[in-house]
Amino acid sequence: MEALQIDSETFVVVMTGAGCSAESGIPTFRDSNGLWEGNRVEDVATPRGFMKDPQLVWKFYSERRQNVKKCDPNPGHLAIADLEQRLGDRFLLLTQNVDDLHERAGSRRIVKMHGSLFRTKCSKYMTCPHSVVDREEYHDRVPTCPVCGAAARPDIVWFEESLDPNFFDIYTNFFSRAQREGKHFYYVAVGTSGNVMPAAGLVHEAQLMGAEAILVNLDLATNALGFDRVERGKSGELLPVLFGCK
Ligand code: OAD
Repeated sequence: MEALQIDSETFVVVMTGAGCSAESGIPTFRDSNGLWEGNRVEDVATPRGFMKDPQLVWKFYSERRQNVKKCDPNPGHLAIADLEQRLGDRFLLLTQNVDDLHERAGSRRIVKMHGSLFRTKCSKYMTCPHSVVDREEYHDRVPTCPVCGAAARPDIVWFEESLDPNFFDIYTNFFSRAQREGKHFYYVAVGTSGNVMPAAGLVHEAQLMGAEAILVNLDLATNALGFDRVERGKSGELLPVLFGCK
């Protein structure tokens, strides 16, 4: 496989999905047929589900926290962190994953588009901005916001919710800089089925700004035809080669 041309004028955006963490032992979404650990998506990943049964939602996310704590970053995560080390601020990682494996691999220039499994926020976050890093588990009780007393919830973007508006500024500024200053600009999507917007549409925006778009995925993603190059296989095996890691 041909490695990216990395030099002092190379800019890279990596966008990861659940497939990137699959080799670490974290199940992907589409493999589970819309049923998450036996729960309906509407019950555990929507604001209405949380209002109906917050204890069920916390039990579900506490189990996911427990599982992620037992998993380690794989060679794909490490290759992404290694590339960031070499490119510095000419690198940006966008991830749809709510685990912390990128951070534990050493990634720092990272935008967590769908939130974090290890942050807790106030359920009334429109009016109460309380949000903290939280690695505790709540199997038998629902934590409350220390500021306003409302129920606290996982800081995850659920279905029917919007992404943080800062996200759009961050990636559009980076794409513009890459177009202006970069000799090579690569957009690399990793382990994502291309089903969920806006992540699935970023490939077109990057191409409009001059990026060469590469997909690294086990199966053909829904939006695979939109990429300039498709590398089928496991990200833990392909990324170290693609990124020319020593
Ligand atoms: P999906 O579960 O939809 O897709 C995972 C993709 O990873 C599939 O296309 C697999 O072929 C691929 N894959 C599996 N193992 C792989 C490996 N070892 N190396 C490379 N690719 C591999 O996950 P996402 O696309 O991340 O949103 O799902 C997007 C969003 O849908 C999630 O962030 C989540 C869900 O709704 C929220 O929770 C808001």
